[in-house]
Amino acid sequence: MTKIAPSILAADFSRLQDEVERAEAAGADFIHVDVMDGHFVPNITMGPNVVEAIQPHTSLPLDVHLMIENPDQYIPAFRQAGASIISVHAETCPHLHRTISLIHAEGAKSGVVLNPHTPVDMIKHVIADVDLVLLMTVNPGFGGQSFIPEAVEKIREVAHLAAEKNPELLIEIDGGINEETAAACRDAGANVLVAGSSIYKAENMAEAVKSIRG
Ligand code: DX5
Ligand code: ZN
Repeated sequence: MTKIAPSILAADFSRLQDEVERAEAAGADFIHVDVMDGHFVPNITMGPNVVEAIQPHTSLPLDVHLMIENPDQYIPAFRQAGASIISVHAETCPHLHRTISLIHAEGAKSGVVLNPHTPVDMIKHVIADVDLVLLMTVNPGFGGQSFIPEAVEKIREVAHLAAEKNPELLIEIDGGINEETAAACRDAGANVLVAGSSIYKAENMAEAVKSIRG
């Protein structure tokens, strides 16, 4: 069954405990945490202290998406704060294999993220080593943007590689996911869908989770 990861970037930051509990009650599988540094992406969001604050209020794995330069420097702090999955952008990691090893050494599951224009080839030689590949379907930095349809072809490419090299791989999609775009991603082979606006702004969160899951 497709896993759903609501992004708390679209939550009410003044009530994060309630917002995380609301997502869990609505049937979410992961809580997606978008970390931005104002360098790799043109926005600043939250750090390890926010992960530490929400962690006691949910039993769901915290799926931490690092949109930051030099992620190696912060991986231990995010793990200590309670991250279960730590994903880094391939574009920020000149020594990607080393960074993945560091995530595992800290005891977390590892993910590698590709921007919409970054070719799947970039991760071909690490796909067997990671737990998750995250494909961006918007340019990272902000919630509420429109899905870039060209990215669907990349989902098929990753699914094809995964069948050969890593059948257990989580293939996660992030950006502009709603009921319609979710269906296209699932058909192409995605098995984890991140959604911010379409879940947190929905009138009925449980219904939104259900319709995105398909
Ligand atoms: C974008 C973030 C996404 C974002 C998704 O940089 O990585 O996780 O929160 O938000 P929506 O679902 O609103 O596009
Ligand atoms: Zn994200």
